Amino acid sequence: MVDFTGIKTPFYLYDLDLLRETVSRASKEAGKYGYFIHYAIKANYDPVISGAIRDHGLGVDCVSGNEVRKSLEFGFSERVIVFAGVGKTDEEIKLALDKDIFCLNCESVEELKVIEELAGRSGRTARVALRVNPAVEAETHRHISTGMDENKFGISLPHLQTALDLCSGSEHLEFTGLHFHIGSQITSLEPYRRLCRRVNRIWEQYDISKRGGYILNLGGGFGIDYNDPGRNSIPDFKPFFRLFSENLQLPEGIDVRFELGRSLVGQCGKIVTSVLYVKEGIDKKFVITDAGMTELMRPSLYQAVHKIINISSSGNPETYDVAGPVCESTDIFARDAVLPATSRGDLLQILSCGAYAESMTLNFNLRDKPGKLYIAGGDLMPAGDLPGEDYHKKAMHSR
Ligand code: LLP
Repeated sequence: MVDFTGIKTPFYLYDLDLLRETVSRASKEAGKYGYFIHYAIKANYDPVISGAIRDHGLGVDCVSGNEVRKSLEFGFSERVIVFAGVGKTDEEIKLALDKDIFCLNCESVEELKVIEELAGRSGRTARVALRVNPAVEAETHRHISTGMDENKFGISLPHLQTALDLCSGSEHLEFTGLHFHIGSQITSLEPYRRLCRRVNRIWEQYDISKRGGYILNLGGGFGIDYNDPGRNSIPDFKPFFRLFSENLQLPEGIDVRFELGRSLVGQCGKIVTSVLYVKEGIDKKFVITDAGMTELMRPSLYQAVHKIINISSSGNPETYDVAGPVCESTDIFARDAVLPATSRGDLLQILSCGAYAESMTLNFNLRDKPGKLYIAGGDLMPAGDLPGEDYHKKAMHSR
């Protein structure tokens, strides 16, 4: 058991051993079918985590110019960077062209025209994949569903032909293929089966291969087990990748790619937080922690469930609402959570916080920036003065 005595809370705690094991299993399963994985870096920008993923040979998926810059800074080659996003600015598109990243995943006919113009002006050719909105239900929380008509993402099917024609008619656009991403935290394989059927049809109907398309990027979204992270600390990548190999019917030689975020990093992170008060309410007790929605906004935004454990107490089980200190009624981590009898000073761990926790931190209430620590080879390591950077360098040197 790692000793956290004297460490200022709250802090993120990342298990690098679990991360490495997860990434290597994902790579192995994807590798069986020749599939390539881009890490959706929006899930977690930590340099040590990103560095470990880069070292496993994965590419990266970005959704802003700053993510592209960060990825290059972290040592990802420009040849493995893809860049999606519905609202790329001219400056971001120029950056992608200047850095000659692998591919812009274009989300509208309107954007395609701007990419064409900017590429033309600088005398370049932009490699583009068209992100298609396939109208496939992802069976997830509606706030993280992206592939339906009502969602702003991707080119809807009635506009795909126009986009394809624009590509073929332009010397400044190099069409590479199609991109899809139907949503996040998808825990059933059924939506992916439907996606495969849709992709097969689109590929054939729009003659994608004849138009020079050779990349099929299926996005990410594979979910993790938030209810029982102890038992399922590594997502079962085997049936996930097998499903695509069994259901995709494409011409030979198509380069199939994925953009995984949560499934790679979600289970390797926790938040360690101290109990400030155990407060009596009406018919309930509140455990007030020093972490809040500023460090983990998923419960507030998506009613997400994160398992919480008390590592200081072995008292009799009691029921609490676990809440942060932020001035928002939605700053609640769990309602009616059963914890061992909890008191001021106890340490709690909020599990499955490796994805979309630290990368979504808020500045609200001018709260202090949380710390972070890593576990590697069972040892606890501090982040140093510049969070992450020192360890990134050390990790690089010790390779
Ligand atoms: N590719 C694209 C184009 C994306 O937009 C995303 C996530 C991914 C890949 C990676 O998806 P993943 O494998 O991580 O599910 N903040 C939300 C999740 C937002 C996901 C945004 N896009 C949450 O905390 O649940």
